[in-house]
Amino acid sequence: MEVIITKTTDEASAFAAEIIERKLMSKPTAVLGLATGSTPLGLYKELVKRHREKGLDFSKVTTFNLDEYIGLSPSHPQSYRYFMEENLFKHINVPAGAIHVPYGHADSVLDFCAWYEDEIKRSGGIDIQILGIGGDGHIAFNEPGSSLGSRTRLKTLTEQTIRDNARFFSSMDEVPRFAITMGVGTILEARQIILLAFGASKADIIAEAIEGPVTSQVTASALQLHPDVTVCLDQPAAAKLKRADYYRWVFEQKRRLVPSLVSRAS
Ligand code: PGA
Repeated sequence: MEVIITKTTDEASAFAAEIIERKLMSKPTAVLGLATGSTPLGLYKELVKRHREKGLDFSKVTTFNLDEYIGLSPSHPQSYRYFMEENLFKHINVPAGAIHVPYGHADSVLDFCAWYEDEIKRSGGIDIQILGIGGDGHIAFNEPGSSLGSRTRLKTLTEQTIRDNARFFSSMDEVPRFAITMGVGTILEARQIILLAFGASKADIIAEAIEGPVTSQVTASALQLHPDVTVCLDQPAAAKLKRADYYRWVFEQKRRLVPSLVSRAS
């Protein structure tokens, strides 16, 4: 794991945007795995800026989102489809037909999940997967106890996730109890992964996920098994890492000795 600790969230978002930009320069047909939540908002702003100012081209890109609530239509303001439209898709030139967000109203969730997995394979697999982390250590909606080999499926949300996400709804009762989510196994098949986490509220769970044991109780810890993960943290989110000084030192050494090694340095 490469752990990058930046002074500000903007720097971390720009760092992640740089990785994506470089990927799109070398592979314009890249397949991007996308996440929702407050965390990737800065990254999406930065990508939109690069599209507007530098012509960063998404015309050949395919996207797959991690998850969606069951029961919310794509036009519901709290649906993840709507979130993506508002915060990214309508501001860049990704073709509508190349966008995939799990469909929360599928007649058969089982069939839909199998189709989603097949579609990821048919697209050639995900080149870069963006992730946030939940307060309970989830990636996508893979709540504690999810199999580390799990695939796209229906998931029941934990009380903590429902509470965390209630801030976007008028009451806790309105938060859907179920979601369709890519599995941990699906996520681990992405060629490259960027995990973003910001703020003091993520410090404990980031320490568990990065420096704790690999366990289905903290599904983000499964990322330790992946060969190409970059974790972009601001200082508050990195505050509980025992080896933070080492991660900073590694980054400095790379930057100083072999600048090309820090391929994503901004
Ligand atoms: P957040 O959510 O970005 O809103 O903190 C992250 C998540 O639950 O995965």
